[in-house]
Amino acid sequence: MSSPQEETPYLDALRAYAARDPARLHVPGHKGGPGADPGLLEAIGERALSLDIPALTHGIDLGPAPTPFEEAQVLAAEAWRSKRAWFLINGASQGNLAAGLALAHHGGEVVLQRNVHSSTVDALVLSGLRPTFVAPELDAELGIAHCLVPQTLDRALRATPGAVGAWVVSPTYFGAVADVRALAAVAHERGVPLIVDEAWGAHLAFHEDLPEHALGAGADLVISSTHKIVGSLTQSAILHLGHGAGGLIGEDAVDRAVTLTESTSPSSLLTGSLDAARRQAAVHGRELLGHTMQALAQARDQIRAIDGLDVLDERMTGRAGVFAYDPLRLAVDVRGIAASGYELAPLLREIGDINLELCGQHVIVAVFGMGERGVPEASRLVSGLRTAAARVGLDPGGARASFAAPPPWGALAMTPRDAYLGAQEVVPASEAAGRIVAESLATYPPGIPNVLPGERLTRETLAYVQRTLELGGSVRGASDRLLRSVRVVVEGPAGGVR
Ligand SMILES: Cc1ncc(COP(=O)(O)O)c(C=O)c1O
Repeated sequence: MSSPQEETPYLDALRAYAARDPARLHVPGHKGGPGADPGLLEAIGERALSLDIPALTHGIDLGPAPTPFEEAQVLAAEAWRSKRAWFLINGASQGNLAAGLALAHHGGEVVLQRNVHSSTVDALVLSGLRPTFVAPELDAELGIAHCLVPQTLDRALRATPGAVGAWVVSPTYFGAVADVRALAAVAHERGVPLIVDEAWGAHLAFHEDLPEHALGAGADLVISSTHKIVGSLTQSAILHLGHGAGGLIGEDAVDRAVTLTESTSPSSLLTGSLDAARRQAAVHGRELLGHTMQALAQARDQIRAIDGLDVLDERMTGRAGVFAYDPLRLAVDVRGIAASGYELAPLLREIGDINLELCGQHVIVAVFGMGERGVPEASRLVSGLRTAAARVGLDPGGARASFAAPPPWGALAMTPRDAYLGAQEVVPASEAAGRIVAESLATYPPGIPNVLPGERLTRETLAYVQRTLELGGSVRGASDRLLRSVRVVVEGPAGGVR
């Protein structure tokens, strides 16, 4: 007997609609193809356009319950073992926004891991929540941040009795996975839900050799960027409510928050891709992930054999903030060669049109998808790295290089929301130290906020961000991406801020 997971009710409903050549007296104006620009038609094909069908179409998301849209979300909840799943068409970013709004129904304070994604900071602006940030474990050797450890969360929650939730990221960009089970226990002991931004871990549910996924480990609300590794279309994602969430986070509040943060014209292509990616993961994920992990293990061995290069892998497990390691990221430690990650990235593009997910000073990251059978990309990366390493030569002292940890963040002078909405002015960077900032400055990659709206900008942080820019990194959230100027809050009588 075939499993319901082999079905794709939503995608099938789209295909059935397109196949019966209906009178499309509704949006979008391209009418399934004929009205589209010929260049677009040629580029993405008539088939894709014919499946671009608006919301509230009978037989797809309207009509007798359960509609194919509802059925598809139920199947997703079953596949990831959540209580309820919401399809998102504005990425995991939307999941973070919705999580913040849902949480704000329960109170005004939240404890968050500092290296949250910028969309989580946006969630604070939207929700008005007052954050207490807690530092993840920093890896001074590699110059990257790992996860938050349970003891740190416990201390922070004890010091923040008004907190209505704890919010962490796992896995990180670099593949470190947190001890979510222990984090959930800490949060639950304090009577608050654990929200896990598992944007990078949608695949974890589908292979027993991978670290345990957050829902399995007891998380209450999980943000899953299905497009990243599982392979739905870019911008599609899923928000999951955990089975144990109970009274800790309201299902209705999440539902309304998802509606508020999304277009009234959700893309059927994105939604259809979620339905299909769920089937692929549930039915074939184990086999596909097995192949990918095997190919990546081989690629890791080959990269480790290149003079001056090393890789991040399960040997990381046990370092502070690394409870387990997700092998679907191929992170390369480049400290032993005479080029930083920032310099290596353009070189790899030049050598073999090799385009990475991210580069930092000491580590570059290549991302692999669940279904990359054989992984020819991995061999391309290996040979590109071989050529690049030979070209730039070794840096014998490099492996001893130690990361200049970012300076401590400044004090929170007002909530991110008040700073964002308050009177503001743009001042030259040279005059910005000591001011309350109205924007985020997050050196990127990997996008860890150095200063957030509502915090005082210290001289040290300003210098650190400027140095990152000089090294070839970028700063996200800044209105002036070259950081010649900074948007700050007008304090005192003029701005009404004391
Ligand atoms: C930890 C984390 N959360 C959320 C997001 C946002 O995901 P999306 O691009 O799907 O909106 C990202 C994106 O890189 C991320 O790294």
